[in-house]
Amino acid sequence: MTTNETTASTSEGLNDIDGRIGELLHKMTFAEKVGQLTQINGSHGPIPEWMADDLRNGKVGSVLNEVNVDTANELQRISVEESRLRIPLMIGRDVIHGFKTVFPIPLGQAASWNPELVEKCARIAALEAAAAGINWTFAPMLDIGRDPRWGRVAETFGEDPFLSSAFGAAMVRGFQGDDLSEPGNIAACAKHFAGYGASESGRDYNTTSIPEVVLRNVHLPPFKAALDAGAATFMASFSDLNGVPASGNELLMKQILRKEWRFDGFVVSDWESISQLAVHGLTANDFDSASAAANAGVDMEMASSTYRDHLEALVAVGRVSQQQVDTMVANVLRAKFQLGLFDNPYTDPRRFPSWGNEDHLAAARQLALESVVLLKNENDALPLNPEELNSLAVIGPLSDDGYNQLGTWVFDCDQELSKTPLESIRELVGDSVEIRYARAMERSRSRDGEGFEEAIAIAKESDAILLFLGEESILSGEAHSRADIGLPGNQDEFIGKIANAAEDKPIVMILMAGRPLALESVVKKVDALMFAWHPGSMAGPALADLLFGKESPSGKLPATLPKVTGQIPIYYAMKNTGKPACPDTIIHIDEIGGEQASSGNVSYHLDAGYEPLYCFGHGLSYTSFEYANVRVSAPEISMGHSFAISADITNTGDLEAEEVVQLYLRDLVGNVTRPVRELKGFRRIRLRAGESATVTFELRTDDLAFCNREMEMVTEPGQFHAWIGGSSDTNSRTEFEIVENDNNHPHGE
Ligand code: GLC
Repeated sequence: MTTNETTASTSEGLNDIDGRIGELLHKMTFAEKVGQLTQINGSHGPIPEWMADDLRNGKVGSVLNEVNVDTANELQRISVEESRLRIPLMIGRDVIHGFKTVFPIPLGQAASWNPELVEKCARIAALEAAAAGINWTFAPMLDIGRDPRWGRVAETFGEDPFLSSAFGAAMVRGFQGDDLSEPGNIAACAKHFAGYGASESGRDYNTTSIPEVVLRNVHLPPFKAALDAGAATFMASFSDLNGVPASGNELLMKQILRKEWRFDGFVVSDWESISQLAVHGLTANDFDSASAAANAGVDMEMASSTYRDHLEALVAVGRVSQQQVDTMVANVLRAKFQLGLFDNPYTDPRRFPSWGNEDHLAAARQLALESVVLLKNENDALPLNPEELNSLAVIGPLSDDGYNQLGTWVFDCDQELSKTPLESIRELVGDSVEIRYARAMERSRSRDGEGFEEAIAIAKESDAILLFLGEESILSGEAHSRADIGLPGNQDEFIGKIANAAEDKPIVMILMAGRPLALESVVKKVDALMFAWHPGSMAGPALADLLFGKESPSGKLPATLPKVTGQIPIYYAMKNTGKPACPDTIIHIDEIGGEQASSGNVSYHLDAGYEPLYCFGHGLSYTSFEYANVRVSAPEISMGHSFAISADITNTGDLEAEEVVQLYLRDLVGNVTRPVRELKGFRRIRLRAGESATVTFELRTDDLAFCNREMEMVTEPGQFHAWIGGSSDTNSRTEFEIVENDNNHPHGE
């Protein structure tokens, strides 16, 4: 069979997909239908005979975790040439932030506030994965990450629905391209639908209790954005959502996804999440689990076999309708037709760019560079000037660790591509500065102090000190949550020793981590602090360029950094409460008197106040930006009309640099209480020293809509505040009013 011959039916092109699906469904036996709803794990080696037989008998619709192109082609060949109906396979893999070339973890990518660049990098990831025979990635992960104890916050785009929506849509576009049937485009998968990020206490797989109005206002928008961007598939979450685990949840899978959003792709379960419905206690056994999941609308079963084992009996006794099964099969077949697999199931790796080529690495370097957030920079610690240094101490377990700098979900990485900070710093300074290196500890979670003395010694004798600390990659990701998000091991103690030894020499700490960390105990001990997340293959060149001022840091926090773990959950888009705190209403635990008093009865912690260490959207530069003249196109905007909010920004420093200009709005009164601020726009701009620019955000009143207590998306008339600035705590504010649309208010257009 050559690749240009048709397989299951005539090839009058993709424009009659439903006709071709109908033809196929008509021919399929029930067992072949169930086969399309079954995803099995790859063999990671030669194809076992039982698997080949299952493929021949049409018992498999998809294989995941097969990354050898020859094996993938052989799986396709058996399915297409040796089965009765010759239906090709979806070959799925977690291509989360790169394949061979590794980009920053998604949380780090979000810190770039550059969706266009993230789209470009997703495109590269798709090409590298497609060359291995993969045609489906289980990404983007769109859970909202507001609890950094949760290990999977590393995979999120942070705490904000608007920012996560922008990145989710960008990643879908990058993976899928304009035409999903083009070789090199792979199907995206919006996961984990939905609300998984609200796992109680940040403990992975834990219960989530989310009022529907919060589900719709906070957790669902990124999934809708991914769907609007054309995401071909969704993945059901493991989590129990308000007592009904997602994999059996009709509100999610039928009411929202199908009836309200009109999704026509397919939903895959998470790994064994259908059989886990009995573990949750939603069902009593696999038979009931298959019934619950099929009737909810989970189309394909990953890894477990409740559909294969029980769907026929469920249809026979009327628990699941034949129509429902046909709909599920049609959803899967539609994706396969859209992918062009019936006409071109095979992969020719020669058609694709080489893995880890210089263009791919250049993109990884740029995204890593833009993802680094400069949190603190005092005493002119940064940028470093090689001409002013004779020696530089490079200390810490993440200075020179080409694997741990990659982050979680890197099973397919090519570690040989990694360039570490130590390597790149040495390359950048050459012989002009003596580099003294000490690992100081075996791992970020080490608790012995064996390497401390050597590190302290080189700190004492060097002109400046770089500390590469944080979390190794295994401390975040799936099932790797932490109850205390301070620095692991005894890094705090170590930093104190270095601070004592360094006297007046600058100490710059560069943190790599898979989550926001609670840094109150250490931030005072260093002069400068960079947060690099896990920056990926090109961590070294990106960080060296930033540390030595080849480029100014421009990243902004996509998630709040608390002072201490006990403040969690703490995020910028909080509600005002009835007793909001402010600086002069709070009393510190050390100052509070002994007798009961009613003063200070506001919303805060005696031992942590009410503010984070660093807020959402925060990020410094080597220059400074001034915001002025925040203004709205009209003081009153008629409902349904468009309007504009602008500000003038000036680079008031002496270095050209990039700034992420952010727009926040507050709806002062609502049918349900509204957040004190909500991100409604952002733009990355580059300004030369002294240069000014006006940034204008075009909006419509629909952009201010929210889900009210009747579960309707509404924009209500009333007063709004608007801010444009360089972080979520900016004070540069204006205000406007939305008025009902009557002819006496011609404003707005
Ligand atoms: C995992 C994850 C999911 C992933 C899937 C396949 O358990 O929850 O994100 O895509 O299994 O690896």
